[in-house]
Amino acid sequence: MSENRRSDFTIDTLNGLSSAPKYLSSKYLYDANGSRIFQNIMDMPEYYLTDAEYEIFQQQKEQILQELFARENSIDLIELGAGDGLKTKVLLSYFLNQKKAFKYIPIDISKKAIQELTASLREEFPHLEVEEQIGDYFKVISDLSKYDRNRKAILFLGSNIGNFNSEQARDFFSHLGDVMEQNDRLFIGFDLKKDPNIILRAYNDPHGHTRDFNINLLLRINQELNADFHLDRFIHYESYNPVTGTAKSYLVSTRDQTVTIKGLDKSFHFDEWEAIYIEMSQKYDDEMIQNIASDCGFHVINNFYDSRKYFVNSVWKKQQ
Ligand code: AVJ
Repeated sequence: MSENRRSDFTIDTLNGLSSAPKYLSSKYLYDANGSRIFQNIMDMPEYYLTDAEYEIFQQQKEQILQELFARENSIDLIELGAGDGLKTKVLLSYFLNQKKAFKYIPIDISKKAIQELTASLREEFPHLEVEEQIGDYFKVISDLSKYDRNRKAILFLGSNIGNFNSEQARDFFSHLGDVMEQNDRLFIGFDLKKDPNIILRAYNDPHGHTRDFNINLLLRINQELNADFHLDRFIHYESYNPVTGTAKSYLVSTRDQTVTIKGLDKSFHFDEWEAIYIEMSQKYDDEMIQNIASDCGFHVINNFYDSRKYFVNSVWKKQQ
């Protein structure tokens, strides 16, 4: 066969745009350009999530240290989807200052993100022991357990869990439970339900960064799959359902149009005002967190909130 194996991006784009209703997966938002736009999102005041979690780390690092290290001498600090590590560095710096013994193990699927992170860590914290891993979270954790008996603290920050629907989130936590030991800790960042207007503004910002972030996915399809999306023929639309706590983003076709994707050898028709579903950002409340933890075999042992109660970092351990 002369044709290259089709990439996940190719297959998922084909499936998503062939479905009714149409969808594209938010995991593909983070190409080089998308990651840069996501930095702009995190930097804007409307995107309160970053500030809230940063405040929690700044203000409560002492108690966080107690929870993550407990009475253990040496631990493995494992971060799933580490990204640029800006917030994590607050904790790393403090733990080092407190002379705690630990290894930092960032895991990401993006090789580039991991390389940039480790380069900046080597410069900022030359004494920090970093063991970066690229690949599948669960596989990396279960492989680690085979040769390394250190207790683990697993970080999943920034409301990354919000991109999973309820079933996916439950599968994710249950699977993590399978590769965790009795004494390990899970440290998760959940965005909380709050004034729906505040949530909507974070995802429908006046600067247009969130719009650019979503539209960039069409640009990526144009570039990587040789398509002819007219980027100005789609608008970004955000919805928030205060009952379920689910924010959803869509790209909506402003006219009847046909887009050809040469890389898929296919054309796709869009009705006027037809939507492509892109991303979910789930918001939680205390009860939802309690329920998902106990349903997946965990105990909530502490919750760290910011001063506005916009966000929580929850510490879990496995049920006995
Ligand atoms: C990286 C998944 C936490 O859902 O809040 C930000 C991604 N999308 N603005 C989120 C995102 C639009 C973000 N997470």
